[in-house]
Amino acid sequence: MDEKKIMLSGIKPSGDLTLGSYLGAIKHWKERADEFDCYYFMADLHAITVRQNPADLRRRTMEQLAQYIACGLDPEKNTLFIQSHVHQHAELGWVLNCYAMFGELSRMTQFKDKSAKNADNINGGLFTYPALMAADILLYQPDYVPVGEDQKQHVELTRDIATRFNHLYGDTFKIPEPYISKVGARIMSLADPTAKMSKSENDDPGRVTLMDDPAFILKQFKRAVTDCDACVRYDPENKKGISNLMTIYAATTGKSFAEIEREFDGQGYGTFKTAVGESVVELLRPIREEAGRLMKDKAYLESVCKQGAEKAGYVANKTLRKVYKRVGFVAK
Ligand code: TRP
Repeated sequence: MDEKKIMLSGIKPSGDLTLGSYLGAIKHWKERADEFDCYYFMADLHAITVRQNPADLRRRTMEQLAQYIACGLDPEKNTLFIQSHVHQHAELGWVLNCYAMFGELSRMTQFKDKSAKNADNINGGLFTYPALMAADILLYQPDYVPVGEDQKQHVELTRDIATRFNHLYGDTFKIPEPYISKVGARIMSLADPTAKMSKSENDDPGRVTLMDDPAFILKQFKRAVTDCDACVRYDPENKKGISNLMTIYAATTGKSFAEIEREFDGQGYGTFKTAVGESVVELLRPIREEAGRLMKDKAYLESVCKQGAEKAGYVANKTLRKVYKRVGFVAK
């Protein structure tokens, strides 16, 4: 019997993974591989709630898988899969749509933000997105769902839906906890340190992706928005840009904020920005090179996602069968 606790998370392949995706999420996932039974997926069903170019979506989904592996997620230890390969997600998503209330869905801040940004395409999927996300989660009966602050509301709704369902039909779903890591949880945009570093290019000129080349990364850090008092000091209230750079530097070097303040005492921002940029170049170099190599090995990537989908499908199917029975569907 496997006694390990279960963890699950997903990222939409709607943009290229960034330094923020790595420091805020994937790096922590990697550290959990031995302690937990982990499921990570490419949330392609969710990606199409916003218009995607099909060729780009296909490329990014495979690239995201290559990058997960290059970041250190070992496919032998973690179950890595593509959401659309496990049809139970869409099926349970439909069922849970019938247990998610219009009022609840209307209150989701991500829905409000996205409908404001995509006023010409406020589709049904964008609205019912949290019911599909609840299905993604509940299929695997996880204990924890590591997510960013922005997804906490969706995990809370998942808990409400699961509780409602359990109440109506008896214990069916485990009630999961959101798992929000403290360190490096939120890497902000280099162009606007009040906003999270975004995956989509159109949204964020101040992002660094995992596949960016060193010259571009250094340029991005050189032009990072800061303030004008020329003092490297951690003060997330008044010095958001510098504090963000310090968070990044602390994550790449393992140094404390106090050590960083001492290291750059009296040196001005230019030297500091260059040092942060160089540390990021070195952090991302092996990831970029390994992901590039894996992208050329299509057969390997296909075997990983096939194996992942089989394992995920087996677990997902057990939950789905139980749900179908509980709601009164005739067994086939
Ligand atoms: N909604 C998440 C995001 O936008 C992605 C996601 C989809 C997810 N399904 C999930 C995250 C299940 C955690 C668990 O980033």
